[in-house]
Amino acid sequence: MKKTIIILTIGLALTGCGNAEQASENRQVEVEEATLPAEEKLLEAEIENNQVQNQEVDTPVNKEDLDLDPSEEINNSAVVQVIAKPADLLVLVNKKNALPANYVPSNLVAPDVPFYFDGDDPKRYLRQEAAMALEELFADATAENIEILGASGYRSYSRQEAIFAANVQRQGEEAARKVSAVAGQSEHQTGLAIDLTSHKVGFDLIEEFGETTEGIWLKENAHKYGFIIRYPKGKEHITGYSYEPWHIRYIGKDIAAEVYKMGLTLEEYFSAYPVNSSNQTGNNNGSEVDSNVLQQPSTTSSTIKIK
Ligand code: DAL
Ligand code: ZN
Repeated sequence: MKKTIIILTIGLALTGCGNAEQASENRQVEVEEATLPAEEKLLEAEIENNQVQNQEVDTPVNKEDLDLDPSEEINNSAVVQVIAKPADLLVLVNKKNALPANYVPSNLVAPDVPFYFDGDDPKRYLRQEAAMALEELFADATAENIEILGASGYRSYSRQEAIFAANVQRQGEEAARKVSAVAGQSEHQTGLAIDLTSHKVGFDLIEEFGETTEGIWLKENAHKYGFIIRYPKGKEHITGYSYEPWHIRYIGKDIAAEVYKMGLTLEEYFSAYPVNSSNQTGNNNGSEVDSNVLQQPSTTSSTIKIK
């Protein structure tokens, strides 16, 4: 099926990061256009297969399984461990802990909230528990005249791979790594993270979002629904990524409230309270590549945001 994609030019003063993302996004459109038909055919069958392979389990974790040290320069981590329990709600995904390439969450659904684009698309999906929490968040935000929109939720491994490659091509690997995760290392693959945006920032994903009424509301209220701002300002050396006021991660109300109250990143929280975490890791180096994953979103008419 022929896809029509309209790229809107945002007439805002974008940050260097924003410009780069916008440009890389344009390239991503080309990637999607080239690969879409085959991927669409695979989509349903692969979700089905992964429902069998990725049953959720509650697994208590020992401190020694975590191998976390927030003071360590996360960007210099030479070893990437593959997460053994990727379906755990408290999974820690970062530059040291990667999801298996073939991991697809088993219960992806589209939350009934507005997105900035039309049409069905994998990036509308979240895991069911996160989707329900997001609906609550949006209902209360709307009641308070906070106008937020979904931008990008679930991403497959291969979709992230294409996004990262596009970012590297655009800005070089070192810069790309600050704003974009290597495939397997993105929380978007968990189905527990979503990027939000607003009309005020031109439906973009830029730091200025954090200073808008919407961004401030999100920062102050996300925890009430079980989400945290995953990449806060001033914690770049711990998370390994630039400030992303738009990226929220579902971890459940209780722990989200603690993380919020203490002003911690997820890395810091799990380091302090490892009993709550579940990042048992495998023993390979995370370099496996699985070409048999579902993927490219069926993009319809919209702008496309990639972060
Ligand atoms: N922008 C975040 C770090 C991601 O690529 O998942
Ligand atoms: Zn994100």
